[in-house]
Amino acid sequence: MKRMVVQTSRPYDILSERGLLSQAGDLCRRVNSGQKVLLVSDSQVDPLYGGRVARALEEAGYTVARFVFPAGEESKRLSTVSDLYAALAQARLTRPDLLVALGGGVTGDMTGFAAATWLRGIDFVQIPTSLLSMVDSSVGGKTGVDIPEGKNLIGAFWQPRLVLVDPDVLETLPPAFLTDGMGEVIKTACIRDEALFRRLETGRALEPDALEETVWRCIDIKRGVVERDERESGERKLLNFGHTLAHALERHYHYQGLTHGCAVALGMLRITQAAERHGLSAAGTAVRLETVLKQYGLPVDDPAATSLLLEGIAMDKKRTGSDIDLVLLHIIGDAYLHRLPLQELAPFFGK
Ligand code: GLY
Repeated sequence: MKRMVVQTSRPYDILSERGLLSQAGDLCRRVNSGQKVLLVSDSQVDPLYGGRVARALEEAGYTVARFVFPAGEESKRLSTVSDLYAALAQARLTRPDLLVALGGGVTGDMTGFAAATWLRGIDFVQIPTSLLSMVDSSVGGKTGVDIPEGKNLIGAFWQPRLVLVDPDVLETLPPAFLTDGMGEVIKTACIRDEALFRRLETGRALEPDALEETVWRCIDIKRGVVERDERESGERKLLNFGHTLAHALERHYHYQGLTHGCAVALGMLRITQAAERHGLSAAGTAVRLETVLKQYGLPVDDPAATSLLLEGIAMDKKRTGSDIDLVLLHIIGDAYLHRLPLQELAPFFGK
């Protein structure tokens, strides 16, 4: 079994092995001594893995209740969390008990938020089942929900007690979900690891063995960043490369149709093209990025008008007063923060 320790304010393990879902109960027991679990999943993931994980938890002595919500980013809202609180109340989860998030980023973010706020904070475990949640959202303790005014505007930093990564689940993932996750994989390579980017450029990153290695490398990069800057006061902002435009685009499309990874792909390319025009990224960076995005089926054309993007950026969390911190690349593998007054944003994007 592969193991990595995340040294945050409350350290926790990330474990990875094929078939790990069936060991979820014993592994949760190592970090939590409660009686009850609320297992949270969505309508796509629950039929695939919910029964298996519930059985494993029961075999480890937990009483298991389940909460299943409709799959999709549209569900990542306060009304779903409110239903989740009702399920917690009905199952009578107390402080020592446990929430388990089984699913993708939406499930992990919402379950983590419920865990951070239920009885002022209880334990939760992340079992990511999408590529995107394995390489990014399940690690680092960002939890939250969207509101109509913007993505992830409500939330809390609340670290999980454990993250369980079972690479087997990637084999049953529909191709569109792999493509979506590749948006975050490419982002990770762009900001911190040129060697990983070169491996992606071979076009073989989605082959099973290569994928497992890629996932573990991405998690390790994220672990390092989160350890050095748990609450995003500096370096962690680099993980938001492409996200300023991505969040604006997702909001523009009402969180439907354009998936997060695809929005990040568009955001990374658009900002790198602009940075290159201003001499803030090395010549050729955007073309290299565009080639890899296309290789993995990610979009490179932006159908939304820049004016709409600018409106969305006004709500962005990376704003500090009248400035915004943009994440740019010196070169592939080396990201940095560039502070820009908001009024210079439109000219930066060529408007
Ligand atoms: N997904 C970006 C972060 O966890 O900081």
